[in-house]
Amino acid sequence: MTAPAPTPAIDPPLPAGRRPLLEVVDLHVRFDTAAGSAQAVRGVSFTVDEGETIGIVGESGCGKSATILSLPRLLPPSIATISGGSVRFDGTDLLHANERTLHSVRGGEIGVIFQDPLSSLNPVLRMRRQLTEGPRQHLGLTKSKAAERALELLTAVGIPDPQRRLRQYPSEYSGGMRQRAMIAMALASEPRLLLADEPTTALDVTVQAQILALVRRLRVERGLSVVWVTHDLGIIAGLADRVLVMYAGTIVEQADVRTIYHQPHHPYTQALLDSIPRVDVRRRSALPSIPGAPPSLIDPPLGCPFTARCAHRMERCDHERPALRVIGEGHTSACFLDITPKKSS
Ligand SMILES: Nc1ncnc2c1ncn2[C@@H]1O[C@H](COP(=O)(O)OP(=O)(O)O)[C@@H](O)[C@H]1O
Ligand SMILES: [Mg+2]
Repeated sequence: MTAPAPTPAIDPPLPAGRRPLLEVVDLHVRFDTAAGSAQAVRGVSFTVDEGETIGIVGESGCGKSATILSLPRLLPPSIATISGGSVRFDGTDLLHANERTLHSVRGGEIGVIFQDPLSSLNPVLRMRRQLTEGPRQHLGLTKSKAAERALELLTAVGIPDPQRRLRQYPSEYSGGMRQRAMIAMALASEPRLLLADEPTTALDVTVQAQILALVRRLRVERGLSVVWVTHDLGIIAGLADRVLVMYAGTIVEQADVRTIYHQPHHPYTQALLDSIPRVDVRRRSALPSIPGAPPSLIDPPLGCPFTARCAHRMERCDHERPALRVIGEGHTSACFLDITPKKSS
């Protein structure tokens, strides 16, 4: 039914003359544990243009967080090692930048929002201070201008009574409010790039929609670029221009959002889409499971990482790892199959 790929596996070239805002090439990240060294990110490459939103999807443990948190070097070196690759942000090599450069980029031109708000909120400082520090430092705003901005942002992320809230400490906020405050904080310094690691997973649908609308607005108004990591394909559908599908530390497919939904090529992407229950019965924040489990990253398989769960498995898949190859305009897939993509519905 399926023939081997006619063309050799290649990485897609960048269009000539275009300079992306963010350029990640062959990123490798590992976690050294007592059980061995987990190869969390195994050669990930992608670009983000000015004003573009990239979605990164994949099951839990596939390396989404390790990928985006490595970009501004936010993973503690004591547990994670960036063992290879390069990350360029607006021409600056972030993997070799000194602390001073990194500091001015983080919380300035690059805003980061985490899954856990407590990792970026300081429990002993009032929220006013935390929300105004960035804009004062990075944008040179006066204290009162920065406070005005903080009020606007708290309102924009849906925090009622922001005047009072500014005087409070993080412990006086509910979990969902802390999440929103952290998002406000990441946006306060008018970043050019927003890195979001499943930040809305714990929020209710209405608040989540409000935050996604805010991010979309900033993209239009200010040309904000976004990398949004999630296991919720529903969020990606309404937010991203381009989607990266990750599996076992690698990108297995990359395409514009319409193509990913209507003409997925990689069997893993197809399985992910097939496993989404209907919207009306969908349980939020849980990616419905595909039978089987991803391979161990401590001793990753030689061949295709998806082979054990793949309905289209061929003999060569067990010992040869397919590289990403171009299968359509702006569309790459790491699979040997020469399948005709599904017709768009
Ligand atoms: N703190 C850690 N210690 C050891 N290994 C880790 C740690 N965090 C992540 N890993 C390893 O890295 C892999 C990728 O993790 P992560 O990037 O957090 O996945 P995701 O964000 O997609 O759920 C995990 O499957 C695990 O093997
Ligand atoms: Mg994660």
